Amino acid sequence: WTAVDRYSFSHLHPKSSNPSPEALEYALSNSEEKGLPDIAVSPSQGKFLMLQAKLLKAKNVLEIGTLGGYSTIWMANASPETKVTSVEVDKRRAEVAQENFQKAGVSDRVEVRLGPGMEVLPQVAEEIKQGKRGKFQLVFIDADKQNNWNYVEAALGMCDSGAEIIVDNVVRQGKLALENTEDPGIEGARKVVEMIGKDDRLDGVVLQTVGEKSYDGFLIAVVK
Ligand code: DHB
Ligand code: MG
Repeated sequence: WTAVDRYSFSHLHPKSSNPSPEALEYALSNSEEKGLPDIAVSPSQGKFLMLQAKLLKAKNVLEIGTLGGYSTIWMANASPETKVTSVEVDKRRAEVAQENFQKAGVSDRVEVRLGPGMEVLPQVAEEIKQGKRGKFQLVFIDADKQNNWNYVEAALGMCDSGAEIIVDNVVRQGKLALENTEDPGIEGARKVVEMIGKDDRLDGVVLQTVGEKSYDGFLIAVVK
């Protein structure tokens, strides 16, 4: 899986591409140096997120779970008009992410909002209500998995019709299919799948993925 990722990515995202391979590598190496966990999306998954933002012509992207900002850098490169609002609970992670944004030249297109998602998202919703900012066309949820559904629900009220909501890590090496689990990550994945399935406002699918980040998957939902 890793060999296929490396081969295809090297051809489809050559040195002259945006974001630059140097900026991406810096984000990963700086994150590692500062002790952040190695759980960012893979290069190919990052590129997938950027291409979704391009397809959607997204001006406003919401991310929940910044970590070192690796996926953020990808999405912020969708177009010069794309702005990413990224929510991070951990101050240290947010600081490392800001360093990575500087290096990638996207600091002016990324706003990091520090705090727990369920505290920050209502504030962002209020800013939209007051006309201080626009609604979102793309949402990427990659934070504490127990809150997956809460984040989808909070994001729904802030999305345009036709917006896309992507939830990371819902397959977890196949554990999504286990009915009896005490793993809170799997519980969070199952809940978001089941709740989206019941929700008339959303139409979703789980896309299983393999690659250098092992076997996992995205839940992809479109806001009707
Ligand atoms: C974990 C979290 C992630 O967002 C991810 O992509 C992989 C692993 C984790 O918490 O283990
Ligand atoms: Mg993830």
